[in-house]
Amino acid sequence: MHAISYADWSGAEYRAALRCIATGRVANGGKIALLAQRLAALYAPSSVYPVNFGHTAIRMALALFAQRTSGSGRTEVVIPRYICPSVVQSVQGAGLTPVMAGVGTDLNLTAESVQAVLGPRTLAVIAPHMFGCPADIGAIERVCRAAGVWLIDDAAQVVGIARDGRQLGTFGDIGIVSFAQSKTVVAGVRGAGGLLLVNNHELDAPLRAQWQALAPARGRLHALVFFLFNHVWKRRAGNIGYYFTRMAGMLGFHPRQYDENAKISNLDAALALAQLGRLEPLKKARIAVVEAYQRALAAVPGVTMPQYAPGRYLARVMVALPPHVDVAALRARLKVLGVETRTGYPAPAGNSGDDAWMGRLVGLPFRAGMDKEEVDQVCGLLRQALESTSQIGKSANEAH
Ligand SMILES: Cc1ncc(COP(=O)(O)O)c(C=O)c1O
Repeated sequence: MHAISYADWSGAEYRAALRCIATGRVANGGKIALLAQRLAALYAPSSVYPVNFGHTAIRMALALFAQRTSGSGRTEVVIPRYICPSVVQSVQGAGLTPVMAGVGTDLNLTAESVQAVLGPRTLAVIAPHMFGCPADIGAIERVCRAAGVWLIDDAAQVVGIARDGRQLGTFGDIGIVSFAQSKTVVAGVRGAGGLLLVNNHELDAPLRAQWQALAPARGRLHALVFFLFNHVWKRRAGNIGYYFTRMAGMLGFHPRQYDENAKISNLDAALALAQLGRLEPLKKARIAVVEAYQRALAAVPGVTMPQYAPGRYLARVMVALPPHVDVAALRARLKVLGVETRTGYPAPAGNSGDDAWMGRLVGLPFRAGMDKEEVDQVCGLLRQALESTSQIGKSANEAH
């Protein structure tokens, strides 16, 4: 099976986790401060505060923006039309109104699309780098500055990539990073951590005080076991994870509800540190796999990788299928052929209109170190599945 990979882990990550478990330092421990210290150099001069979720950083930032601008009637937050639902929920949870701005073929906001929706009620803009693909964040920063609007540089999916000589995450007032599955640095499943980056030093004192008052996230050992069985080892473990979770439930072990705002746990900080130690080779290896896909996709008619640019880092390989394709049927066929795929986020306007192509984005198997032969095989099977599903479509039409 050519499986979707959720984390590129080596022995270093397992050893880091085992050390925390053996010393009883799962929630609290020295790795939290060490992680902040290790990242201070990368993100300098921004301040680095490790938290339990990427969206914890968004919530903390929005609450502070709203407080600083209270009474001004600014209650709207600009987000891209193509976005992870947790961002929308964070905006709504803060009592604010999301306003969708258009994205380019790279799935990112542009300075023009942001400018087009700014108004007297705009409080802030959240600008992600979708699937790790860098947005033109410098231009978006200039637009926000000119309009007097707060900017969150949402680098949830990417670590260690610079644009205009600055690290993604350090533009605007606040930056965020996530360490959940399928990101650039992965410490585990949902709630495995993230970063609050304070880029605007006027905001540093209140956010530092808030962060210092937070407790580290709890329940993370259970989350790690779940992640290993259901994601990392799934190819070998099959459905063991599912039965394990059911059995644990029957015995009265239920996963802990996620903490609201919390610091990252010591266990997740140790895992993130192990990943950071391998970041450069991981990035290089992923860029090589993206290049291999771009070459192999040339032989698959009608399929493109819209976020591709030569030498560009991506955290996922998302391909756009041709308009006539039934995405569900194609994915089912690929599964039979041994290729696991995943969909992206839902297209904002459903399956019609200008945004329809976003609903035809499919994620292909992608992991650091995937060799050219495997990439060629996946693309060959994609071509085969496209041919057989369009054949089925054709005969169904003829039968009518
Ligand atoms: C662009 C973007 N922003 C924010 C988040 C939130 O991160 P977390 O799941 O760690 O809260 C995600 C998560 O998928 C994301 O993709």
